[in-house]
Amino acid sequence: MYLLEVNNLSVDFLVGGKALPAVTGVSFQVTKGEILALVGESGCGKSVSCMALARLVPEPPGVYSSGSIKFHHAEKEYDVLPLNKKDLREFRRHRISYIFQEPSASLNPVFRVGDQIAESIYLRIGKKDDGDVRNEIISLLRQVGIPEPEQKMKCYPHELSGGMQQRIMIAMALASRPDLLVADEPTTALDVTIQAQILELLRSIRKEKGMSIILVTHNLGIVADMADRVVVMYAGHVVETANTAEIMERPLHPYTLALLSAVPKLGRRSGKLATIPGNVPSPANYPCGCRFYGRCPLATSLSGEKQALCASTVPEILEKQKGHSCRCHYSK
Ligand SMILES: Nc1ncnc2c1ncn2[C@@H]1O[C@H](COP(=O)(O)OP(=O)(O)OP(=O)(O)O)[C@@H](O)[C@H]1O
Ligand code: SF4
Ligand SMILES: [Mg+2]
Repeated sequence: MYLLEVNNLSVDFLVGGKALPAVTGVSFQVTKGEILALVGESGCGKSVSCMALARLVPEPPGVYSSGSIKFHHAEKEYDVLPLNKKDLREFRRHRISYIFQEPSASLNPVFRVGDQIAESIYLRIGKKDDGDVRNEIISLLRQVGIPEPEQKMKCYPHELSGGMQQRIMIAMALASRPDLLVADEPTTALDVTIQAQILELLRSIRKEKGMSIILVTHNLGIVADMADRVVVMYAGHVVETANTAEIMERPLHPYTLALLSAVPKLGRRSGKLATIPGNVPSPANYPCGCRFYGRCPLATSLSGEKQALCASTVPEILEKQKGHSCRCHYSK
């Protein structure tokens, strides 16, 4: 049974009277306790897909133009897109939490970090009750590896390092006891040692709490280390999805192949996405056929007749082997 099922989700942005398709027909699932990685170059729609999960893409300019987001909690089923305001608020408070790249952008500089964590706890319990809140804050700070929590809870964000601020963000995210944690490039702004510590923390949280995590990253080394399954996005489409070992060993889509061959040594945390020749087209200029056509090494090796299909027709995403899907007319 899945915790989350995203089916055929499309999100457009209305810009200058035009609907720009940021995310088109995206489908993926998250099982309980799994770490799912979302990868792809900048602008491929990773963040928009994640924000959509709690309907956080602002409307306007955003429009949820198709699809469904179903969240199966043991006590309650949520069909996120049609939720009314009250149920949406409840869903956001209890079921899903986000952490982003820049903790400084999410932490309020004028409040002590302990008070900010307390706010998350109050939101969860639905009232301001000082009873056990202080103990819970201290316990959360301990869980995220912050030393001397009694002192640190009195600090303002600027008094803490970037790594400590990110731990505070994780503590705030955990305060609502979510079933799903969405971590959108949570370590990109941090140096390598701190990055490793934060990733280790996310892994231990998953293990201890059985929480599901969606991890957005540019770094395929992190994917190899952390993720159970991978969703590869290109220009607003999901182009490939499989479990991590499978996709690393037998990538099917030419884009995934290009991403992987751009990484010299997998498993190293230095494995950032190196550049693939050309650019991701912008939603205003998506080609009418395969969105990877124009950069695709496989297409250039094909006959003109075969290429014509790439140029004219969007490939469907198809399950090629059990649990391994790919969107390409010619991948095996
Ligand atoms: N508020 C907005 N208005 C118009 N277009 C937007 C808006 N937010 C995102 N987009 C567009 O949606 C597309 C997907 O953006 P998204 O932020 O999801 O990419 P991403 O994969 O997260 O990239 P990155 O790796 O740089 O974070 C991009 O073309 C982006 O320009
Ligand atoms: S459909 Fe054609 S252009 Fe698209 S990935 Fe496959 S071979 Fe390349
Ligand atoms: Mg993003």
